[in-house]
Order: sequence, then C-alpha cells, then structure tokens
Amino acid sequence: MTVERIGVVGCGQMGGGIAQVCALAEYPVVVMEQTPDLLHRGLARIDAQLGRDVEKGKLSADQRQAAMARISGTTDLSSLSECDLVVEAVVENLDEKRRIFAALDRIVKPDAILASNTSSVCIMEIAAATERRDRVAGMHFFNPVPVMPVVEVVKTIVTSDDAIDQICAVADKLHKTVVLAKDTPGFIVNLLLVPYLLDAIRALEGGVASRDDIDTAMKLGCGLPMGPLTLADFIGLDTLLYIGDVLLNEFHQEKYAAPPLLRRMVIAGMVGRKSGKGFYEYTR
Ligand code: CAA
Repeated sequence: MTVERIGVVGCGQMGGGIAQVCALAEYPVVVMEQTPDLLHRGLARIDAQLGRDVEKGKLSADQRQAAMARISGTTDLSSLSECDLVVEAVVENLDEKRRIFAALDRIVKPDAILASNTSSVCIMEIAAATERRDRVAGMHFFNPVPVMPVVEVVKTIVTSDDAIDQICAVADKLHKTVVLAKDTPGFIVNLLLVPYLLDAIRALEGGVASRDDIDTAMKLGCGLPMGPLTLADFIGLDTLLYIGDVLLNEFHQEKYAAPPLLRRMVIAGMVGRKSGKGFYEYTR
C-alpha cells in the first residue's frame, strides 16, 4: 500500500493547513468538519490563503484552482472510507479523539493508516481505541502549517515500521522535514517549548519586565520570529494550559506547572489571538 488519498478530520487552523499542503502536493484530499457552516468557513480560509499566495506570485491562478479542486469537503466521516491515510486535527480532547479513531477504524480499509496531529495527547491511548494499533501514529504539524517546515512523526511502542515509513514518505512529498519522536508527553518541541512559554508568563506575573520588553528581549536577543507572549497568544492560551497540564501530570515537575495568571486568563476566555484577546488585543 502507498498513500494515494488523504483524509483530514477537522478543518480549523491546523486541519485546514494540513488539507492545503496535501492538496498542493497533488494528493486528493477529503476533509471532514462537524457542521456545514464550519466546513464552509474552513474551505473558504484555505481558498483565501491560496489566493494570497497567488497575489504574491508564489502560485498561479491555475495551481490555486487545481489545489481547491483536489479538496472535497464532507460532514460525514464515512466519506473518508477510501483514504489511505487519515490525519485527525480536532480539539485536544482524549475522549473525542478516541471516539473519532474508533469510528474511523470501522470505516477505512484494513491497511489504512490513522494519524493524529495532537501536540500532547498520548498516541497509544488513541491507538487503543482501534483494532489496528500498529497502524496508528502521531503526525504533528506546526502552526502555520503551510509555513513551518517540520513535522514530528511519533511512533508508539506498537506502531509498525511500515506505517512510519509511509507517513515519512508523505511528509517528504509535502516538503516537510521529519523528526522522529517517541510517544512521550510533548514529544520534542512542546517538551522544550512549553516550559519556556510558562516561564515567560511567570516572568510577567513576577514583574521581571513588561509584556513588550519580555517579547522584545527574546525576539531580538535570541533571534526568534516572535516573543514568547506573542507566541503563547498565537498557539492559544487554552492549548498551552492543556499541554502544560499533560506534562505536569506525567512528570510532576514544577517547570510544567501553569502560572496562576495563565489559568485565570483561560477561565476569563482570554485565550489569545483566536478569541481577540490574550496578552495582546487582536482585531479579528
Ligand atoms: N498561513 C500561511 N502562511 C502564513 C500564515 C498563515 N497563517 N501566516 C503567515 N504566513 C506566511 C506569510 O504569507 C509570509 O509569506 P511570504 O514570506 O512568502 O510572504 C510569511 O509567512 C511571513 O509572514 P508575515 O510576513 O506576515 O509575518 P512574519 O514574518 O511575522 O511571520 C510567522 C509570521 C510565520 C507566523 C512567524 O512569526 C513565525 O514563524 N512565528 C513562530 C511560529 C511558531 O513558532 N509556530 C509554532 C508554534 S507551536 C505549534 O504550532 C505546535 C503546538 O503543538 C503548540
């Protein structure tokens, strides 16, 4: 089996980005959302993004049209039955992911591969909801998917080498660099990134410096594209808190403990860019 058709569950920021890069790499893609409205908005976001690439001369109008023509949208999971690889990119919730994987397991071909774009949920726990545990893995993209050039490919203690090879071959076609990680909390990037972001919030909370100076110091002092508070807003403070809690529950180390300010901002609905307000304000 080689991967010829890709399914994507979820057409939000991450799922839409994944569908977009797969379509640009000439894979037929079936993308599923819960409601017609969410699906319509997700597909419109992909089309708008491709439109910006046309304006910049990175893509021709024909390439944009061809990419959009390769993407078919659905609200019915069973439309993914012919996909050889399905990438799930829904909300970070173990029960929800297990429900989707159990359903996909009954729908797709026996040798199809199921991958999760999760940044923090244990892949083995998701795989255990299926009867094909050796064909379940992590395929973790980074936001914005069309721009960030790396994918973490996560192998559980039972994922087959063949499934990993197939995922790596797809990532290669998407022009993404693969890094291989074990199924341990936070994989590589979030294991290292999340304590840094939590420490930046602790520095703000502790009055070390102002919001802008913390961001400017790290951006200019370390040559980063974004300061940590801007990046936390970009990722979503709810997602950051969720990943921090997963790491804390597994490792019981202080560095993963969410600062009170973060927890309170999430309770207040100030979850960053997507809500219009986090450490900064955004016009949506
Ligand atoms: N989708 C597609 N392309 C986008 C984009 C998006 N959402 N946002 C920006 N871009 C493109 C722009 O079109 C632009 O392309 P060109 O250079 O070809 O014109 C390029 O990215 C740069 O964008 P801008 O000039 O508008 O702005 P910028 O220079 O500030 O770059 C950025 C924006 C790429 C987001 C940059 O700030 C960056 O790399 N930030 C760090 C992002 C990061 O660390 N992501 C990982 C987060 S962690 C994660 O995702 C995993 C997790 O599990 C939590």
